[in-house]
Amino acid sequence: MKSKAAALRCTVLKSAIVMGLCMWAGMAASQTTTRPWNDNTLSPDARAKLLLAQLTQDEKFQLIRSYYAGPDRPATAPFPKGAIASAGYVPPIERLGIPALEESDAGLGVASSDRMRPGDHATPLPAGPVTAASWDPQVAYRGGAMIGSEAHSKGFNVLLAGGINLTREPRNGRNFEYAGEDPLLAATIVGQAIRGIQDQHVISTIKHYALNDQETGRNTISAQIGEQAMRESDLLAFELAIEIGKPGSVMCSYNKINGDWACENDYLMNQVLKRDWKYPGFVMSDWGGVHSAAKSVNAGLDQESAGEVFDKEVYFDAPLRAALAKGEVKQARLDDMVQRILRSMFAAGLFQYPAGKAPIDSQANLKVARETLEDGAVLLRNENALLPLDVNKLQSIAVIGAHADKGVLAGGGSSLVTAMGGNAVPGIAPTTWPGPVMYHPYAPLKALRDAAPKASVQYAEGNDVAAAAALAAKSQVAVVFVQKWQAESIDTADLSLPDNQDALVEAVAKANPHTIVVLENSGPVAMPWLERVGAVLETWYPGGDGGKAIANLLSGKVNPSGRLPVSWPGDLSQLPRRDIPGVTGGTPPETVDYAIEGANVGYRWYQAKGIKPLFPFGFGLSYTQFKHGDLKVDAKGTQLQATVDVTNTGSRAGADVAQVYVHVPGAKSARLAGYAKVFLKPGEHRTLTIPLEPRLLADFDAGKHEWVIRGGQYSVSEGPSSADLGAPVNVQLPTARP
Ligand code: BGC
Repeated sequence: MKSKAAALRCTVLKSAIVMGLCMWAGMAASQTTTRPWNDNTLSPDARAKLLLAQLTQDEKFQLIRSYYAGPDRPATAPFPKGAIASAGYVPPIERLGIPALEESDAGLGVASSDRMRPGDHATPLPAGPVTAASWDPQVAYRGGAMIGSEAHSKGFNVLLAGGINLTREPRNGRNFEYAGEDPLLAATIVGQAIRGIQDQHVISTIKHYALNDQETGRNTISAQIGEQAMRESDLLAFELAIEIGKPGSVMCSYNKINGDWACENDYLMNQVLKRDWKYPGFVMSDWGGVHSAAKSVNAGLDQESAGEVFDKEVYFDAPLRAALAKGEVKQARLDDMVQRILRSMFAAGLFQYPAGKAPIDSQANLKVARETLEDGAVLLRNENALLPLDVNKLQSIAVIGAHADKGVLAGGGSSLVTAMGGNAVPGIAPTTWPGPVMYHPYAPLKALRDAAPKASVQYAEGNDVAAAAALAAKSQVAVVFVQKWQAESIDTADLSLPDNQDALVEAVAKANPHTIVVLENSGPVAMPWLERVGAVLETWYPGGDGGKAIANLLSGKVNPSGRLPVSWPGDLSQLPRRDIPGVTGGTPPETVDYAIEGANVGYRWYQAKGIKPLFPFGFGLSYTQFKHGDLKVDAKGTQLQATVDVTNTGSRAGADVAQVYVHVPGAKSARLAGYAKVFLKPGEHRTLTIPLEPRLLADFDAGKHEWVIRGGQYSVSEGPSSADLGAPVNVQLPTARP
């Protein structure tokens, strides 16, 4: 009927433009008549149901597996025709207008651009902890939207982006892909990044579900942890992020959890994700994470990723067909798998807004990357206001180390992005997986020269410690860049900086009391020289236009406002596990005991044990000062709301974070339950109203499988870091469900 009405109006209206529009409207209307699932006034579920009813059994099987479309493939697995070179590909079903799924890694930008597609490049965001350290969900959203739009313009419609494994292990090789140690902070950041991606009509994949918190033995090890502890920590991060971001897919991880593979874990996928959280999207496996057909499918896995290359066999083809024939898997479950995949495709707009070649505004995207670092870099130390540098007066600056003359370091593995201009320092081992070691071509040296035009800004490599110290001695200030490359699949055995860099810093600091250290790293590193340097700026992996962001931060053009999303251990003895067995080789153990700290990840562990870390969670300095007023807490049922007044009492504009922590009755450690970042001009103040997440007031009752707020006295405190809190406010809460 619709198409008829459209045609009638078109015969009346004669203008060429209107005719064109009408033809389009007519086509669209006739499309929804012949393909009713294209009617976008229907819900994604209803549309998926209509489409599912049209699929043959073979077409259903086509949708529940992807193919590897990357390099280094065995001869038995030819490149999938029609795919963009990337991590995964599901061919289209053209007779029904179902688009292909083109999947790319993209946690920090459209990944492996050059490794996958020689000559291609993308905009690299800084490392995940930088975005988390911004404590600004809008920064996360913007970064996600930037990546999503680049991906869409390159033809990708599924991103393997949304890493949220908590930093239980500061030596984890993938911490640079994640968002720190706290469930609320990580979830609000990653959830918003996912929203940003999906608003560009690209499905985002939160990962790695779950407790894949170290790389050593990642394909074999079992994370041992009780139900209550995991629900209150790693799973709470997923729960909250999924609520905020509504990712179309969830990637189950490589490891086992309490003895069962993550990708065949009924508790994680069926009971928690799909039953308790009512998750409507699909679960895809990690690449090589599937070990069975019937067991995985019945436990809730919906799609096998690149099994022809990474799994022992493609379980979601012949073995699954056999399991169906034997009645081990029900047809209804296969239909549910397909329904979930189609539903996510409709929900993110994959049919309506097909991804394809489109121009990319690289300059605008680079600005997003630069501003992310400007919002997230953490000033850890600043003795005698050494920073900001007075760039209008300085005559000489020594820049030392970490190839700061050429670029900024990136982390290795599947998340690696090749920026425009390629690798600024090629050839450093490992040059193959999980390498190459990559430097993005955004040199701090040039940016510092631009920032301080009157100064002579000289560079020393740092390999020659004496030469570096000599340059420092004759300069007014010395900026030493130190680095630690980390990568997917390998953890680091300890916190030390490699390649004699501690000696370099010591020598430079001895030669020049005005020494500033800039860190490029994945997770906390030991700083034996800390007391002897004037300032330390943490940039993790700085990403696109990182050199300029660093220059802007050091020169005070931008006032640092990042706050640590992780605790910074003093040494390994402070950690729940002193060693990572197997990290340097040999067979890793079968299990890792996460029950040691349980839900007390990061700062909660330090507080519960009475240990003082080197830097506490939430810590970060500014070039201005802030005063936090008295905390007020209002309770409406179990919904608590904190109010605090923050004033910029210094002479520079800057941003501060009000962090609200709750002590539940009887707990030895606090929990971050709400936060807000505020930008204030000198003298300005703002009253911040911060709602507290009720699940952070609650315990997870494993017996009843539900959250329970235990009646009693809750103490709420606020401050600029987890270790600097004002007077607590006590609130009496009744026993309740949050
Ligand atoms: C990683 C995933 C990644 C996948 C595809 C795996 O090795 O664990 O994070 O998305 O490869 O590249």
